[in-house]
Amino acid sequence: MLTLGEGDTPLVQASNIAAQCGVDELWFKLESCNPTGSFKDRGMVVAVAKAIEAGATGIMCASTGNTSASAAAYAAKAGLQSFVIVPGGKIAGGKMAQAIAYGSTILEIEGNFDDALQAARDVTAQTSIALVNSVNPHRIEGQKTAAFEICDQLGDAPDTLAIPVGNAGNITAYWKGFTECAERGLASRHPNMAGFQAAGAAPIVSGAPVADPQTIASAIRIGNPASWKGATAARDESEGLIEAVTDAEIIDAYKLLATREGLFVEPASAAAVAGLMKLHRERRSRGGRAVAILTGHGLKDPDVAMANLTPNVIKCGVSARDIRAALSL
Ligand code: F0G
Repeated sequence: MLTLGEGDTPLVQASNIAAQCGVDELWFKLESCNPTGSFKDRGMVVAVAKAIEAGATGIMCASTGNTSASAAAYAAKAGLQSFVIVPGGKIAGGKMAQAIAYGSTILEIEGNFDDALQAARDVTAQTSIALVNSVNPHRIEGQKTAAFEICDQLGDAPDTLAIPVGNAGNITAYWKGFTECAERGLASRHPNMAGFQAAGAAPIVSGAPVADPQTIASAIRIGNPASWKGATAARDESEGLIEAVTDAEIIDAYKLLATREGLFVEPASAAAVAGLMKLHRERRSRGGRAVAILTGHGLKDPDVAMANLTPNVIKCGVSARDIRAALSL
């Protein structure tokens, strides 16, 4: 038995931006409320428990930051060694701090996430260290529980499920979860799966791997997703879509979520909302009830926040008189 209290995350209804997203009802699944601040904990707890059962001597993953934070935390809890392979200089500061804090061994490579994943696959194939990327089926089994929760929380599946897509494990897991809910009578229907990649890292949209993916949303800076087939199956079987949003659109949604909904998410998470807004602008929105998966916390990437937000800071004296004068109160 292993747990850090993952899952059972809140589903919160939008107060102010549903119309801008072209839907009648908009809900946010707050996956940042998981113990390490992202959805990765749902699958990681299962993958690490299963690694222990299988007698693994340690765990390893490639990561753009959140998987490594989660792997490092569960390894610490379980008393296992963890090794994380990350693209050098491309990991958000908060995520790097997490891997360091939990005591992981960090391998920084000169290459991108796709190179790191290949290296992790090779090393784990040759050793008794377990691979805990989402190519490990236990990760998908854990992550699908978020779909169960949504059906539980809403009483049925939503019309649309908006989700960012990077390595494509999560969209694969949600689709599996929603399919199982429908099969077992816990939902009367499937949602349309609406996946969104960053425009500079959108291989599934273009239909070909991207050799040098680029985006401000470093979590989804991935050029050759491991679960590509799972993502296209989710898209096609649900009559959904996978499209691209630009970095500018991501930052617009990132600001809107924080200032209008009180939700500070990381840029990758804002891609889901940016996608809904884009569909609405292009008059392609399906309306109805949508759920956007807010995959990770804004605190993980303070550099992006400080570089893209305009602080409303007034330097002033310390007395009540100074403050009233500064605010004209
Ligand atoms: N949102 C966040 C915050 C992520 O960290 C990731 C993936 C995704 C969305 C996309 O999910 O890969 O299942 O399609 N992060 C991985 C990592 C790649 O290493 O932390 P996906």
